[in-house]
Amino acid sequence: MKSRIAAGSEEHKQLFCRQFIDTHQVFDPEELPWPELDAPALARLQAVPFWQEVYHTERRAGAIVDAFTPQVTDPLVREAVALQGVEETRHARLIRVLIDRYALSATEQPIEAFPPDLETAFIDFGFGECLDAFLGFGAFKTARQSEFLPAAMFDIFDVLMFEETRHIVFFINYMAWRERRRGLSAPARALKSAWFYGRAARRLFGMVKRGQDSNDGRDFDVTQASLFLDGFSFRGFVEDCYRENARRMSVFDPDLMQPTLLPAVADLAVRGLRLWDRGRLGRKQAA
Ligand SMILES: [Fe+2]
Ligand SMILES: [Fe+2]
Repeated sequence: MKSRIAAGSEEHKQLFCRQFIDTHQVFDPEELPWPELDAPALARLQAVPFWQEVYHTERRAGAIVDAFTPQVTDPLVREAVALQGVEETRHARLIRVLIDRYALSATEQPIEAFPPDLETAFIDFGFGECLDAFLGFGAFKTARQSEFLPAAMFDIFDVLMFEETRHIVFFINYMAWRERRRGLSAPARALKSAWFYGRAARRLFGMVKRGQDSNDGRDFDVTQASLFLDGFSFRGFVEDCYRENARRMSVFDPDLMQPTLLPAVADLAVRGLRLWDRGRLGRKQAA
């Protein structure tokens, strides 16, 4: 649905900041209804190899947003960005509670120094979040469907996913507002987004590669992975990302802007894969 509000206007700023501030939830990660896990579920949770990376990513997120906050000149935007910093820091605490409670292996790594241009660091981080969340929507659906963990645990992760969805909606609107005020046209904004997404994708692939190298031989063991991946299809995963993104975005005010590039790419990929599958079936039948 097309927004009735002009990107970059005062009305737009009021809308995306106020909505973000008004939907902030107050809770303490310690007090969440953490479930007791039986031995097999605990073993599955402990076998997940990326808790250290998740914990580090959330700590780094809090540090970047906190560092950028004082540089935001507009008071209302600054209030919203500050609140995002609070939420990112709380995500790190939530993951820390998870690590301690279920004896997961993850150590605290030092956070790298940020470049002097903190706004670019914030923008890089924002596009990274958009990409991670879009893929995370699909992965989360797959994990939930496989009953990898009890539903109560997914309900807790859902609290985090909801906040990440709010962050990316806030970020997409912040970028549109910022670029519009700088006089950038819609095509120039789209091009700039594609460039930042390219950087985010390169960083993500680098992280996956590093994870594979450091986990060499200690990967998810075969039974754990098959629990996740039984019946896994790439097309199904991309479809899940696309559908979950639409479902999670549907709760936001239609006057807010939403990410469009990744859903469009996913939609194109699914159409292409469908055609490919149909062609393959046709070739099989002809043979
Ligand atoms: Fe976060
Ligand atoms: Fe976030």
